[in-house]
Formats: sequence, C-alpha cells, structure tokens
Amino acid sequence: MQIVILETPEQVANYGADQISQQITSKPTSVLGLATGSTPVALYQELISRFRAGKITFSQVTTFNLDEYLGLDAEHPQSYRYFMNENLFDQVNIDPANTHLPSGTSINPIAECDAYESKLSEAGGVDLQLLGLGQNGHIGFNEPTSSLGSRTRIKTLTPETIKANSRFFSEGEFQPTLAITMGIGTIMESNRIVLLATGAAKAGAVVDMIEGPIAARCPASILQMHPNATVILDRDAARGLKNGSFFEMIEVKNQQLLRNRLGYSD
Ligand code: GLP
Repeated sequence: MQIVILETPEQVANYGADQISQQITSKPTSVLGLATGSTPVALYQELISRFRAGKITFSQVTTFNLDEYLGLDAEHPQSYRYFMNENLFDQVNIDPANTHLPSGTSINPIAECDAYESKLSEAGGVDLQLLGLGQNGHIGFNEPTSSLGSRTRIKTLTPETIKANSRFFSEGEFQPTLAITMGIGTIMESNRIVLLATGAAKAGAVVDMIEGPIAARCPASILQMHPNATVILDRDAARGLKNGSFFEMIEVKNQQLLRNRLGYSD
C-alpha cells in the first residue's frame, strides 16, 4: 500500500485527479471504477476543470460504478446514477453508453448482479478503481463482515451506514436499506486501486484499514493484499496512524525519485 498524507481535502482531490488523469492519458480506452459519496466530489470537479482546459478527454473511457441503491430509479436525485450524471458524466465528453451502474429498479436484482459482473469482464476489467471509505470501514456497500472474496450482490446496509447517508435524504423521504454493490473480490481484481479518505470521522476506519489486521470487520483492510493500492488521506483522516511520520518520509522519497526520473534535480 502506498500511503499519501496531505494537509487538506483539496490536495487529496488534486492528487487523486492526477492518478486518474495519468491513467486515461496513458490509456485512453481505460476502464475506470468510480465511487459516490461526498469525498470524490472535489476530485470530479478537478477532472471537469482539466477536461474544460483541454488537458484530458473521456471520449474513449468506460466506467463502472461500485454500487446503487435498490429501489431508486435513475431519475431519483439520491440515486447514484443521478449523482454520477450530475457530478461528472454530464459535464465531460464521456459517451453515456459507456457509463455503467447497477440498476436499482431491475425486476430481477439477482440477475442484475450477475449481468453486471459479466459486463465488467466483457469490458476487460477495471484499470483503476476509485474508492471512498465508510466510517465503519466499508468499501462500496460491502459492510463489515462481508466476505472478503464476495462478488457483485445485494447487501443490507447497517444502521450506521443508513444514518451516515441519511444526510442526503429529506425528513420522511424513503431511504433504501438495500443496495447492489460490487463485491470485495470484484474490487480486488482491479489493476490499480486509489482510495480517498478525508476528515476526522474516517480516522478510526483509516487505522483499521492500514494498521489493523486484515479482517472482514473492516472490509477496506483487504487492500493490504492488493499489489497496487494507493491511499490518499488528509491530515485529519490520518491522525490516528501510529506510523504516520514513516509514511510521510516514504512519500517524500517517492516524490524525489519521481522528480529524478522526470529529469528534475532537487
Ligand atoms: C457510501 C458509498 C461508499 C462511500 C461511502 C462514504 O456508503 N456507498 O462508496 O465510500 O458512502 O461516503 P462519504 O465520502 O460521503 O463519506
């Protein structure tokens, strides 16, 4: 795991946007795995700015999102399809036909999960998967005790996740308690993983993910087994780490190596 600790959420968004920009520039036909939630919004805004400035293009990019609420259709403002259209797809030159999310209103949701896995493998798998982190260590909607080898399936959300996400729903509005999510095994097949976490509310989950044992009680801890995972944190999210200064020292060295490779001298 590469651990990058930065000062602010803005720096986290920029660093994450750099990873995605490099990916789609070096391979214009990249398959991106995308995430929802508050954390990636600033990263998506940065990608939109770079697109408008002519620095990156999404013309040949394909995307697969991690998850979708069961029971919300694409027009529902709290559906993840709606979120992605608003926050990224409608503002860049991606072909809408190349953007994929599980359907929240399929007549047969179990078949929908299998079909999503098939579409993903037909596309050649994910080149770079972007992840956020739940306060309880979930990735996608893989809640604690999810099988670490799981595939795309229906999951029941925990009361704490429902509470954490209730801020997006108005009082009395139907809030789903079920979702379709890529499995942990599915996520782990991505060639590269970039996880963003910002804010003090994530500090406990960050410690469990990076310094805790690999355990289903913290689904994100499985990233310790991934050969190419980068975790980008702001200072608040990183504040519980015992080895924080060690990670910062390594990142300084990584940046020096990168500059030397690019021909800059310190
Ligand atoms: C939801 C999503 C996750 C996301 C998490 C954290 O539960 N299914 O993919 O990582 O929220 O969201 P936020 O970034 O808003 O804290």
